[in-house]
Amino acid sequence: MEKNKNQKKLNQSFYIENYGCQMNLSDSEIVISILSNDGFVLSNNLEKADIILFNSCSIREKAELTLKKRLEQLQFLKKKKKTLFGVIGCLSKKIINFLIEEKKIDFFVNPNSYKKISDFIRYAMDGKKSLHLNHQKNETYSDIQPFYLNQKKVTTFLSITRGCDNMCTFCIVPFTRGRERSSSPYSIIEQCKHLYQNGYKEITLLGQNVDSYRWSKGFITIGFSELLNLLALEIPSMRIRFSTSNPHDMSDKVLEIISKHPNICKHIHLPVQSGSNKILRLMNRKYTREKYLSLVNRIRTIIPECSISHDIMTGFCNEEEKDHQDTIDLMNKIQYNYGYMFSYSPRPGTYAYRNLQDNVPKDVKKKRLKEIIDLQRNHSSFRMKEYLGKVQEILIEGESKKNCQYWYGRNTQNLVVVFPKQSYKIGDFTHIQITETTSATLIGKIYRDVKK
Ligand code: 5AD
Ligand code: SF4
Repeated sequence: MEKNKNQKKLNQSFYIENYGCQMNLSDSEIVISILSNDGFVLSNNLEKADIILFNSCSIREKAELTLKKRLEQLQFLKKKKKTLFGVIGCLSKKIINFLIEEKKIDFFVNPNSYKKISDFIRYAMDGKKSLHLNHQKNETYSDIQPFYLNQKKVTTFLSITRGCDNMCTFCIVPFTRGRERSSSPYSIIEQCKHLYQNGYKEITLLGQNVDSYRWSKGFITIGFSELLNLLALEIPSMRIRFSTSNPHDMSDKVLEIISKHPNICKHIHLPVQSGSNKILRLMNRKYTREKYLSLVNRIRTIIPECSISHDIMTGFCNEEEKDHQDTIDLMNKIQYNYGYMFSYSPRPGTYAYRNLQDNVPKDVKKKRLKEIIDLQRNHSSFRMKEYLGKVQEILIEGESKKNCQYWYGRNTQNLVVVFPKQSYKIGDFTHIQITETTSATLIGKIYRDVKK
């Protein structure tokens, strides 16, 4: 209590920038809530704020470079105004030590210690290095009501698990976010209901591996399928999405629940990383290409209308041309709706960084990445054309960026749909008949009104 009073007196303003994934953005909403409760004031003016928080991520080298560049760009504020710079999010110790030592930032708070962020700020204000405060290990933040940044109140995100136990050899997440733990189903259901009552129409449940969601008390154990079932029944008019699914853990029970409930969206993000068994083994992904292909078959049998997206990484250690061709072959077999593609960058602290050689030349990585991006574009175009003439239920999220005369929304498969504005407003559901497609967008016209 005493601390809160002190902070209220300080009345410091803070500005927050986000670079990382959706989970990071969702964490920003928790951090804003904690800081506001401690008497800090959210500012939308970067240059006037007393504190700038950079919510960043070093899962891939590119994000880390973006952060370094941005810190460089803004150093003038430190000099001119003595603005405090704090980094939060998923960063390796190596980069944080470097940034602190080079005096580019004043403090760092890892994703397990956000409840103590005000202490970190106070230490930094006193000119102390706050890097060594004890970090919590099991934080879930399920007792914090996030400050929702999407003020249009249509769609938002909620973390249901934090951390990851999978130890993929290329991945920094288990080191930056810690062991996996799940929020209580009661707090998840309560937060979703609260969101629905406040006008939200769609929630995306987040976790590094949502399928391993598991919460137990006494004789009761709730897994991901039970959680989905409970949520779908409790809030039948709210769209429910989730990400990310791990091919190793996804069960038929989950697929059946998705198929059973109209309000659970028919889209699965199913990172494969590689189509080669040799590379999957080196990555410590706990499935084979055969198991992955069989899972995709089961998804398509149980939920025929389901869209599937992927993450693929090219140029991992020891990847030869034939491994790359296995990935191309797997992509051709599945013809994903869309995907995210990266080339491998070694991350300090990971198993691969310590034990495997980053031996695929840069130009080969680049060439392979281009090949899979081009191939995915063809597959996306093909998949989008399957919607021509079909009628889709769309949740309107806003104005199309390219043409303010058009609305923008998404169908249950998470595909972007644009259509000429008529009487609707953001947050409405409507039915759209698809008349044109590109590789990334469905274009259509209003089919008929749906009251929701
Ligand atoms: N290099 C490149 N891509 C990576 N990813 C994770 N770690 C790395 C890395 N070291 C990609 C994976 C993952 C996505 C979130 O980021 O494809 O699924
Ligand atoms: Fe990283 Fe693998 Fe966990 Fe995903 S499942 S966060 S890639 S360790």
